Amino acid sequence: MTDRYAVFGNPLSHTKSPFIHAEFARQLGDDLSYEAIEAPRDGFEAAVRSFVAAGGKGFNVTVPFKVDAARLADEAHEAVVICGASNCVKVEDGRLVAENFDGVGLVRDIVDNLGVALADARVLFAGAGGATRGAIVPFFEAGVREIVIANRTVAKAEHIRDLLRARGPIRACGYDDIGTGFDIILNSTSASLSGAALPIPDTAFHGVRLAYELAYGKGKTPFLQMAEAGGAEHLADGVGMLVEQAAEAFAWWRGKRPNTAPVIEAMTIPLE
Ligand code: ATR
Repeated sequence: MTDRYAVFGNPLSHTKSPFIHAEFARQLGDDLSYEAIEAPRDGFEAAVRSFVAAGGKGFNVTVPFKVDAARLADEAHEAVVICGASNCVKVEDGRLVAENFDGVGLVRDIVDNLGVALADARVLFAGAGGATRGAIVPFFEAGVREIVIANRTVAKAEHIRDLLRARGPIRACGYDDIGTGFDIILNSTSASLSGAALPIPDTAFHGVRLAYELAYGKGKTPFLQMAEAGGAEHLADGVGMLVEQAAEAFAWWRGKRPNTAPVIEAMTIPLE
């Protein structure tokens, strides 16, 4: 019987997950279906229960249901506990086991695809939402020397710092207190979705090896333009992170790892 997977979200008109998982399945000769299920905003749990009752084996979760997925889970892995949000669930004997692969996917993209070392790197995250929260532990596990979180609302950055300071050196600040000497700067705010610029000082980009926009397919965003003008060596958007987190999910569900390179290549939109 065809194994059923899905992504739950609302809206889902732009989701790339069905394409990515179809490519993985084709590559590995797996018989599976992967649907986009746009659940009503107050109907996530009912939609999940009906999917599981119909034999669904696993699913991804996107906006606005990631926190609901964490709450609904019978068992949650550490990344979910830290973020309070899940982007991937496996159904095991009817139980929902929750994971969050966004942080791991980001690390894999930077190290394996972009070839930028995280070991001993000084890293700046702009933004203190779920994306930053999920990336901190995987970044420390990859050996970064220091993480700085800058946010418009400084208290949110301080909260993440207090939550995760036992994992490694971490500093929280506002945009006026960022400093210099970074190897990697990431934009994990939602500012690019509205085309807004961030008040990161030009000097912060001097000597930066990689400026990474977590959003996918937005072209050369104001953040990437600033990074380029400030002297950042490489620019990237979140296409690799998107495909790598999907590959983590596929490997977890199916026990085999797809080749991400051709899928990233097919989905890359040039940064012009
Ligand atoms: P997610 O969970 O997707 O990471 P989120 O929790 O909504 O997103 O967080 C969005 C992030 O983008 C926050 O860090 C937010 O800053 P505040 O905490 O100060 O609100 C940031 N953000 C959004 N628009 C911004 C803008 N125009 N300028 C600066 N920061 C912005």
